[in-house]
Amino acid sequence: MNLKLRPRRLRLTENMRAMVRETQLTVKDFVYPIFVVPGSNVRDEIKSMPDCYHLSVDRVVEIAKQIAALGIPSVEVFGLPEYKDEIGSSAWDMNSPVQRAITAIKREVPELIIVGDVCLCQYTSHGHCGCLVDHYVDNDRTLELLSKVAVSQAEAGADIIAPSDMMDGRIAAIRAALDARHFINVSIMSYAVKYASGFYGPFRDAADSAPQFGDRRQYQMDPANVREALKEVALDLDEGADIIMVKPAMAYLDVVSKVRAEIDRPVAVYNVSGEYAMVKAAAANGWIDERRIVMETLTCMKRAGADVIITYHALDAARWLKD
Ligand code: PBG
Repeated sequence: MNLKLRPRRLRLTENMRAMVRETQLTVKDFVYPIFVVPGSNVRDEIKSMPDCYHLSVDRVVEIAKQIAALGIPSVEVFGLPEYKDEIGSSAWDMNSPVQRAITAIKREVPELIIVGDVCLCQYTSHGHCGCLVDHYVDNDRTLELLSKVAVSQAEAGADIIAPSDMMDGRIAAIRAALDARHFINVSIMSYAVKYASGFYGPFRDAADSAPQFGDRRQYQMDPANVREALKEVALDLDEGADIIMVKPAMAYLDVVSKVRAEIDRPVAVYNVSGEYAMVKAAAANGWIDERRIVMETLTCMKRAGADVIITYHALDAARWLKD
């Protein structure tokens, strides 16, 4: 037997493995999502998302400081409003928890990159991501509302606007609305490739955003499709998206890899609530090693081509990266 090449030679020690490692996960890859709620002095753990909290605006700055102290560059702000209506008007109310939280974080922790999630489902009484005509989400009318939300978040201090609604044409509409208000340096991170996924279950509990009837398959993508993903990406780039996101992450890394190969702008991936909940539940039962599984999955997201990883594991992963 003459084995000229023995791949095992380069796996002999940790130093050797580290030297030839192809992918380096770093804390700078992370965005940490938070949930802001009405009221004061609220810090309630979200049942289906252990170690994640509903925070009132007055408790948001302390977590923002913690995020920054760990070296995590960015926070994504989700919110629950004080009131809901047919068109989701609390989504662009400057007194809503999201806008107030963005302003507070910008004031107290200015170096943190603030991502504002733009959608209507947390704000509409029916829980759909746009306004309804009969039982149909009206695409073009929704664009006007999303543009108002984007402008209100930019006004509050958001650095990046991240529309997650999956209406057609929203990147162009939001870009035009931001530019008209002179927010030319506010970026858009498009949830360009967002699948209609069962993995959002815990988030919908956390954000009280489950649709009251039907589902989101008329606007979010069919999990069976990948050519369509590239079409969505091409449209959003053409409309002016600065960063392209694929969501969810774990079961969709083939999509991340294809998108990465196709485009020259940064790719983000969203490690969603259901993925997080599965890991936390199995770890709590002692069935898996949480730290090992988290670091492995986040590294694999980067290996697949993600430049940015939005993850509820960010605080833990940042600590583990320091050890
Ligand atoms: C709002 C939105 C959702 C998520 C992010 N923004 C839920 C949905 O589309 O139903 C999911 C995030 C997660 O599951 O962690 N449209």
